[in-house]
Amino acid sequence: MDNCIVVTGGAGFIGSNFVNAWLQQGLGKVINLDKLTYAGNLENLSEVQNDKNHLFVKADIGDREVVARLLKQYQPRAIINFAAESHVDRSIHAPDAFIQTNIVGTFHLLEEVRAYWSALTDAAKEDFRFLHISTDEVYGSLSASAPAFKETHPYEPNSPYSASKAASDHLVRAYHHTYGMPMLTTNCSNNYGPYHFPEKLIPLVIHHALEGKPLPIYGDGSNVRDWLYVGDHCSAIRRVLEAGKIGETYNIGGWNEMSNLDVVYTLCDRLDALRPKSKGSYRDQITYVTDRPGHDRRYAIDASKIERELGWKPAETFETGIQKTVAWYLDHQTWVDHVTSGEYQQWVGENYQAREKA
Ligand code: NAD
Ligand code: DAU
Repeated sequence: MDNCIVVTGGAGFIGSNFVNAWLQQGLGKVINLDKLTYAGNLENLSEVQNDKNHLFVKADIGDREVVARLLKQYQPRAIINFAAESHVDRSIHAPDAFIQTNIVGTFHLLEEVRAYWSALTDAAKEDFRFLHISTDEVYGSLSASAPAFKETHPYEPNSPYSASKAASDHLVRAYHHTYGMPMLTTNCSNNYGPYHFPEKLIPLVIHHALEGKPLPIYGDGSNVRDWLYVGDHCSAIRRVLEAGKIGETYNIGGWNEMSNLDVVYTLCDRLDALRPKSKGSYRDQITYVTDRPGHDRRYAIDASKIERELGWKPAETFETGIQKTVAWYLDHQTWVDHVTSGEYQQWVGENYQAREKA
């Protein structure tokens, strides 16, 4: 078994940041298995397109033949499972794909990994890891004064997206408990940074601001999220892979709770400084729209376990991370133009035309 890993969903937002960093740090060979849904984009991997240690395979995690063949051929020492349908609003409009990929797809992947792992030598079995990338949304919603989510918080998912992620977490847990497989799970808070698809709040606001379009705030904008720079999420994943205790789950977060309105104000202020409008502020484009059904009030991650046990801490503050992010979007308008053509237009029509102005 050489130093090869399989990454699923490595053409998406977090997966591509992970693969780019892994290869740029020379950490070994990556087999990158991605279906290239609307959210997957090979341009996210242009930084490593000539890297001999990167092999991209366009396939579904539920395609057992392909997965079995790749495992047999490359004998990876680890699988990191990023692949998922990830957008809450899409899960409300059309949950089917979420059930299919996040639950059924994960199940098929687990079955093939189980067959592969079971046939390994004892030493290789011991070294192997399956790291499942999950979310804080599985824990449900917090009141304003409730303590942040610990790993022991009960699962109370509220959207089809979070319910499907919770189901996949439970499958991963069961494969450890029942078959003794070496599983690790991470539950992370909201990420932001380069290659973030502009259906999500931060890149959508940057994109709409520059296009002179409304900046849609669901409800009154007081819902709270806990933001982490994507590079910090990737460093936490590397640390868990390296030193995480088998069968454990680790919460990952940046101790950075903010209301949506404060996030949008921050973005407008940065853009006002870097790309001023001829008249007024980007804040003038803020528009309140009908709330997301079942909108979770607040997420907050208690990241003390990973800090204490694995010595991980984020490198970026929200201020430094958002500066890098806004600068990246201003420098990568061609990327934005490419990913916002075609299917994106249809989604924006579906999601926002149905929302009345509040
Ligand atoms: P994303 O939507 O940007 O990317 C998902 C990737 O998975 C895409 O490249 C897509 O093509 C691929 N994919 C989808 N279905 C597939 C299938 N059936 N087979 C193979 N590939 C498939 O998502 P993201 O924001 O990068 O999130 C990655 C993971 O991290 C997800 O599991 C998500 O639940 C989790 N997560 C995301 C956040 C966040 O803030 N974005 C926070 C915590 C956890
Ligand atoms: O918490 C981790 C989760 O963060 C991940 O598991 C998900 O994959 C990821 O998409 C993200 O989910 P959210 O629903 O929190 O992210 P989103 O960017 O869609 O929304 C952030 C907040 O902003 C949320 O309260 C809804 C609000 N919002 C979002 C959009 C797209 C708006 O007010 N207007 C918008 O147009």
